[in-house]
Amino acid sequence: MFSLTRLCTRATRSFSTIAPRQQRNPADYAFAFDIDGVLVKGKRTIPQAKKALQMLNGDNPSGRRVPFVLLTNGGGVTEAIKAAQVSEMLDLEIQPEQVILSHSPMQALVPQYKDKTVLVVGGQDRAAYEVAKQYGFNNVVIPDDIHCWQPPVWPFRSADRDSANKEDVPDFSKTPISAVMMFHDSRDWGRDIQIMLDVVCSQGGVVGTQKTDFGIQDIPVYFSNNDVVWSTEFPVPRLGQGSFKAAVEQVYYTLTGEQLQSTSYGKPHSTTYAYAERVLESLQGSKPKRVYAVGDNPAADIKGASDYGWSSVLVRTGVFRGPGNSTLYPASAVVDHIGHAVEWVLSQEGDL
Ligand code: G3P
Ligand code: MG
Repeated sequence: MFSLTRLCTRATRSFSTIAPRQQRNPADYAFAFDIDGVLVKGKRTIPQAKKALQMLNGDNPSGRRVPFVLLTNGGGVTEAIKAAQVSEMLDLEIQPEQVILSHSPMQALVPQYKDKTVLVVGGQDRAAYEVAKQYGFNNVVIPDDIHCWQPPVWPFRSADRDSANKEDVPDFSKTPISAVMMFHDSRDWGRDIQIMLDVVCSQGGVVGTQKTDFGIQDIPVYFSNNDVVWSTEFPVPRLGQGSFKAAVEQVYYTLTGEQLQSTSYGKPHSTTYAYAERVLESLQGSKPKRVYAVGDNPAADIKGASDYGWSSVLVRTGVFRGPGNSTLYPASAVVDHIGHAVEWVLSQEGDL
């Protein structure tokens, strides 16, 4: 667990800096790095990651800086906290503006739901609630709030009163929920599937009521990513939000005979790439001519990059371990780790 205080203190300490060298023209290309399985694995840093990013900060034979963003399907914290976490792990300063989380593009939903009650699911304690509030959603509730309001909602364990909103617990029988937004992985799949479906199957979003005609779904559902698996320090991939989504869809279908309608963000969806491209443009001052995505998950990182017209480099430090290229979503190049990925791109670009 990362301590916010420690991270803030860390942010004021000096990070390893790069000696400025003679600058050539700024690069007209850019990088988008995945985090889990490329830079880190759980609490462990991938050994080649720091040096690879230092090269892009100018520590390379041509001496020029190459802009990059971190484009992750992770989330559940603010962009600033994630930047501080990764900076801490790599001992290299990453700016919050360089971090694009799975839910970052969901800020586009704020005008539609600004003053409506939205259920935000996933993440540790109330962290995802804080993210949603910071984005500008004014009426955010989380599953713990509903569980505390009526403990029999999920009778198999006690409600977590520390995570629920203590000052202003809404009466959900009078507080209709307008949308369900999943911001990060659930910490209690059973309880969260129950509560999400309580909302979707209710009359007009009122928890504790149930509609009889499921032909039209009134409550929209949004997922921040569809990763079926992701990579940690455990030897084999772990279930991600995409697996949770499959579970919710199957239970909804079993209950109602209907397909659950939902909208998804994150890689490989084009909304996320369009968002990343705008971020790169603002970092660089102009739209990069070529973008290289470096990732470990062919179904998210490589598919998304290829569909959006970016080049891609697949590394073998995460979800993908194959000897050749991915057969389903082949990358422009496959290398052992991020260090080789950066070298491959710099040599393609004549910067090595
Ligand atoms: O929850 C994290 C995850 O699904 C993947 O993150 O950095 O590999 O896109 P990343
Ligand atoms: Mg990854």
